[in-house]
Amino acid sequence: MKTNQYKLALITGASSGIGTAYAEKLAANNINLVLTARSTDKLEELSQKLEAEYAIKAYVISQDLSDPGAAKQLYENCQKQKLHVDLLINNAGFGYQGFFEKSELAFYTNMLNLNITALTELTYLFGKDMLDNGLGAVQNIASVAGVQPIPYFSVYAASKSYVIDFSLALWREWKDRGVLVSVMCPGPVETRFFEVSGANPREMMLRKLQTPEDVAEIGWKAILKKKPEVFSSRSLSLTAGFATKLPAKWVASVINATMKPKANL
Ligand SMILES: NC(=O)c1ccc[n+]([C@@H]2O[C@H](COP(=O)([O-])OP(=O)(O)OC[C@H]3O[C@@H](n4cnc5c(N)ncnc54)[C@H](OP(=O)(O)O)[C@@H]3O)[C@@H](O)[C@H]2O)c1
Repeated sequence: MKTNQYKLALITGASSGIGTAYAEKLAANNINLVLTARSTDKLEELSQKLEAEYAIKAYVISQDLSDPGAAKQLYENCQKQKLHVDLLINNAGFGYQGFFEKSELAFYTNMLNLNITALTELTYLFGKDMLDNGLGAVQNIASVAGVQPIPYFSVYAASKSYVIDFSLALWREWKDRGVLVSVMCPGPVETRFFEVSGANPREMMLRKLQTPEDVAEIGWKAILKKKPEVFSSRSLSLTAGFATKLPAKWVASVINATMKPKANL
């Protein structure tokens, strides 16, 4: 296992679930942190806990990353405080399960702003500094949902498909320039995600959920090993590999037949 070379990580969506687990994992590896999300109180609490437990600094910057221009504001705020980020974990995101036309349009706009635009802008802004220094890493949190079209999760799944393709393309562009771009694709994880998205893991036939700590552990190991793509379990990686070999139209039809939500028929 390679040793850690990073000094300051910015984690988006650090106030709960997978983001909080990454914060714990990186703090335990002596990496200082910039914690960001909208819930200032939760971030402050996490920062105090991590600073008490580990010999690190954990800075809090609250930001709604679905606001246009928010990524730039966050970057400029870091610049002003001389916080030189060399590890970026683009984790903030949310989904929605249901009939496409039944949600407000603004809801999708916010989702795309957060899941795609903010992630891309943060990668651009912090990534350029990393390239200048010839050192850094970005890990984008996608989802296994991004490997195929998913009816009733259409916008979310497509947003994560973007994250996978964008990350792998940039991995190759930056591979020989000292900056790692990597993508983590979790399967179902026990977080607020299901509550926020309105999805019911039992209706989706998901029996066993992974813990956010599992995801952070595997994601961190992938960064150390400089892996471009990682799934949160071996079986998930095999299933995803199989799904990508099938015709997308066929996969969409099978999912349509088996996963139509009952709640908002
Ligand atoms: N849980 C799963 O089954 C699963 C599976 C695959 C992929 N993922 C992905 O994993 C990532 C983390 O999700 P999670 O499962 O840990 O869910 P979560 O517990 O709901 O965490 C989502 C995080 O994103 C932040 N966030 C939401 N909207 C935001 C906004 N407008 N601006 C800034 N931050 C915002 C939330 O903080 P605030 O509310 O404080 O802003 C929270 O910290 C997401 O990208 C998700 O798509 C999750």
